[in-house]
Amino acid sequence: MPDDNTARSCLAIVLAAGEGTRMKSALPKVLHRIAGRSMLGHVLSAVHDAGATHVGVVIGPDRDDVAIEAQAAMSGAEIFVQRERLGTAHAVLAASAALGRGHNDVIVAFADTPLVTAATFARLRAALGEGAAVVGLGFEAPDPTGYGRMIVAGDTLEGIVEHKDATEAQRRITLCNAGLLAISGRYALDILSRIGDANAQKEFYLTDAPAIARAMGLVTRVLTAPESEVQGVNDRVQLAAAEAAMQSRLRTAAMRAGVTMLDPSSVFLSHDTKLGRDVIVEPQVFFGPKVIVEDGAVIHACSHLEGARVGAGASVGPFARLRPGTDLGAKVKVGNFVEIKATTLGKGAKVSHLTYLGDAAVGAEANIGAGTITCNYDGYAKNRTVIGDGAFIGSNSSLVAPVTVATGGYVGSGTVVTKDVPSGALAVGRARQTNIEGWADAFHARNRDRKKT
Ligand code: UD1
Ligand code: CA
Repeated sequence: MPDDNTARSCLAIVLAAGEGTRMKSALPKVLHRIAGRSMLGHVLSAVHDAGATHVGVVIGPDRDDVAIEAQAAMSGAEIFVQRERLGTAHAVLAASAALGRGHNDVIVAFADTPLVTAATFARLRAALGEGAAVVGLGFEAPDPTGYGRMIVAGDTLEGIVEHKDATEAQRRITLCNAGLLAISGRYALDILSRIGDANAQKEFYLTDAPAIARAMGLVTRVLTAPESEVQGVNDRVQLAAAEAAMQSRLRTAAMRAGVTMLDPSSVFLSHDTKLGRDVIVEPQVFFGPKVIVEDGAVIHACSHLEGARVGAGASVGPFARLRPGTDLGAKVKVGNFVEIKATTLGKGAKVSHLTYLGDAAVGAEANIGAGTITCNYDGYAKNRTVIGDGAFIGSNSSLVAPVTVATGGYVGSGTVVTKDVPSGALAVGRARQTNIEGWADAFHARNRDRKKT
């Protein structure tokens, strides 16, 4: 971000009053997620990172869900309701109370355009800092149909004309309006209140702002961005396209920061996934929100992680599932078909095969044998299992919580552990084996003739 932006206060107005009917969804459009975060959340994060000191979110009537998400994404976001959908300028004016507080910079963002970067918002602000009163963002579209067209002379933005209002000659312009805008706070209310609705759609167009500013003798500028950054989301097909673009951006950033991905296109990241240096991610791995993988850990193929920390040098999968509250220490090994939830594993502990650990604390260097299950739920409450440092849990054991296996405790294979196991003790709880000499031979002799050929 250019340093000179920080000297000025900045109000971001995020328009989130979209109807979103083409999503065919019970959920408002701007709450649909990309990389595990709502589109509204992405836009709020970008304007925040561009230095917005104040944020106003304009929502439709009766949209408490959008208001709640806005405030969860950014505490202090002020909510404004646009009662009637009379156009983008009308929507911005719903936040007049905030505009009237005299911020230096105003940026207007659309919550259904979730890929715009903080750097782009910062560039718009920097142009205000250089004296422009209105700054628009254009992009070159191979097919500009439907978009507003930018009429420019050099880097001066002379005006924007909506597709529906454009002449044939104007429709041949391929520089399209991305929609978002930056306006000097000093002139914002004045410019916006001069916008009328004498146009094809009888709407108050934000896009009239540049021409009005020019008529007031003010400076207007155009900046450009790649189309991939300003693509909007109106339906699920465009949602998937935005998801793909965001995934590609996140993977590239991870690899540039020192992560190896064998097949990046098959790895799904969340907006907040943190992968350390020399982490290796094999194909078909899904990272839900809030995952931290520390340096040198390996996530093997087909694993699903969410709300988990993986310590340095640990190994997870293939086919592992780490659920929220999983915390793996350094060099822990979690093998195939293991599910872990709300459980900590100390340094060097091993859970190699076919296991469920829930609501447990496992000490350092403990070994959990194949097929071990913590029976953490009794139908009413979740109960805890504690396994001490260096303990050994034999294969196919059930640990009926609440229960503790103390440091160095040893559980014989196939045991159903219902009582605490003292330090250094062996627990065995299974039916004793008896061998009946000759039984098998006699059994086969009796039945041999019954076998159909
Ligand atoms: C807008 C631009 C167009 C640009 C295009 C880029 C205007 C007049 N036109 O057109 O130049 O090429 O974006 O995608 O700005 N909104 C409200 N209240 C309203 C109307 C809109 O909150 O009354 C919000 C919408 O939810 C959306 C945004 O403003 O987030 C843009 O509105 P939309 O109707 O989609 O504008 P476009 O016709 O796409
Ligand atoms: Ca649109």
